[in-house]
Amino acid sequence: MQNQNDQSRMDKIVSLAKRRGFIFQSSEIYGGLNGFWDYGPLGVALKRNLKDAWWHDMVSGHDELATLAGAPAPYEMTGLDCTIIMHPQVWKCSGHFDLFHDWMIDCRESKRRYRYDHLHGRWAAHRGKKVFVTTDASGDEAAPETVARAQKFFGLRAKQIDEIEWGGGLESLQQAIAAGAATLADTLGPDATAPGTLTEPREFNLMFETRIGALAGDDDDRAFLRPETAQGIFVNFKNVLDTSRVRVPFGIAQVGKSFRNEITPRNFTFRSREFEQMEIEFFCPPAASAEWYRYWRDRRWRWYLDLGLTEGKLQLREHAADELSHYSVGTADIEYAFPFLGPGEFGELEGIAHRGDFDLRSHMEGKLVRQDGALVLETGADGKPRHKGSGKDLSYFDDITRERYVPHVIEPSAGADRATLAFLCDAYHEDEVPDEDGKPRSRTVMKLHPRLAPVKAAILPLVKKDGMPEVAIELYRKLKPHMACQYDEKGSVGRRYARQDEAGTPWCLTIDGQTLTDRTITLRDRDSLVQERLPLDEVVDMLRDRLR
Ligand code: GAP
Repeated sequence: MQNQNDQSRMDKIVSLAKRRGFIFQSSEIYGGLNGFWDYGPLGVALKRNLKDAWWHDMVSGHDELATLAGAPAPYEMTGLDCTIIMHPQVWKCSGHFDLFHDWMIDCRESKRRYRYDHLHGRWAAHRGKKVFVTTDASGDEAAPETVARAQKFFGLRAKQIDEIEWGGGLESLQQAIAAGAATLADTLGPDATAPGTLTEPREFNLMFETRIGALAGDDDDRAFLRPETAQGIFVNFKNVLDTSRVRVPFGIAQVGKSFRNEITPRNFTFRSREFEQMEIEFFCPPAASAEWYRYWRDRRWRWYLDLGLTEGKLQLREHAADELSHYSVGTADIEYAFPFLGPGEFGELEGIAHRGDFDLRSHMEGKLVRQDGALVLETGADGKPRHKGSGKDLSYFDDITRERYVPHVIEPSAGADRATLAFLCDAYHEDEVPDEDGKPRSRTVMKLHPRLAPVKAAILPLVKKDGMPEVAIELYRKLKPHMACQYDEKGSVGRRYARQDEAGTPWCLTIDGQTLTDRTITLRDRDSLVQERLPLDEVVDMLRDRLR
């Protein structure tokens, strides 16, 4: 159940995100578009810093000569940037065409559509009349919502609520129906006034479809927007191998947009229809794959901690066998306790999956299925492959061991928007600071890691005269080539600090009367509020060091 404070905290974060230009609803002047979000001036810088940090730490800054802590061997990292629309066969062989779906359910009365697994309900009875009352609300709101709906259904006044007899706690509608504990005929839909208006659940493929070419019409022109960036990497495996002289083990990284026609996008940017992924496909010898899986799981976990996410709000969760995707032989999720979730609930930031040789084999042989624990080619009634592969040889020949094999894949797959949201939520703090007269003033401060902060430093002349702006502008021009900084001379210095605190700027540099005599400035630290006096001519180098 969600905690009231956490919901109001989430509301404040969403409101700050809009007010300060981190995140806006897409096409807002036309009423918005559900599941699509735009990043404003501060948001685009935050998300870019996050993606740059990921690319630097995983790819461009990687030391391929060293054996990193926990890694079984040295390895190389390289990158790709693939198209969003790919050959339709890619999605047939990957399994997305047949399997990438959710179950949805429609309401004939309200005309609303729900994700089947998002509906929860419970039996309610009053004077011999019984109904299975459902809701699509989550967390704290779900149980009170069913009470209000039952009250309305039975036509009761508020003081009669206690007359309702409840047949137990909330349970998943999907599970209640599967277990025979409820039927659709008895079920009161989340927005219906009478039972029996929900349709039978139907499968809904989450891939966005499009058509290629001006004369598009028949089925051959059908194409899909990629629902993950991973497949572009698999189909280019041979190209990378042949052109860049990498040797297994090595990883290919890609950052880019993915699209999923989510039935019920929700929770701000958490479940969007257009989002960005940061994925690595790491190719390794099968015998060492379990060790590489553990390495990547732990490495990715540490990355979030190093960038400042609160450890107590992060969880590393190994999937149970029945939760694993059709391709996976082991998966762990890195999850964050988002404020829109109930206590003890976590939302996925990143999955680290051991995908075995499923992907490369699928693109060689055709769509694979698991049979008696082994991956075999799926065939139709005619004995032919259900979806034919490329027929290209995607195996690897190790010229040192003289072995040929299909590499196994470890995939750390992160969401750039989810991580941005987690860092925004984690950074949000309210505290009290003394104002210019020493009186406590409440402030909202975004405690973002300096590497992620959209603006690293603000340069503030104490007053707009006496030569202070000139010195401040000189400092601004020296610092700007090295990091994002802002010059601000408008309003009292307290108001300017407050503006920078809300934007998450870690350092404010103030030019005052003393600067003019001894060429020192004050550096105010956003989090500790400590003010240091520093030589003006050394500040640029000092901040560059701190950022490193
Ligand atoms: N290639 C594997 C893959 O795509 P996934 O768990 O479906 O795995 C990976 O997605 C990550 O992408 C998730 O952990 C999440 O961070 C992000 N993601 C997935 N669906 C999303 C959505 N609808 N909105 C925002 N981010 C999403």
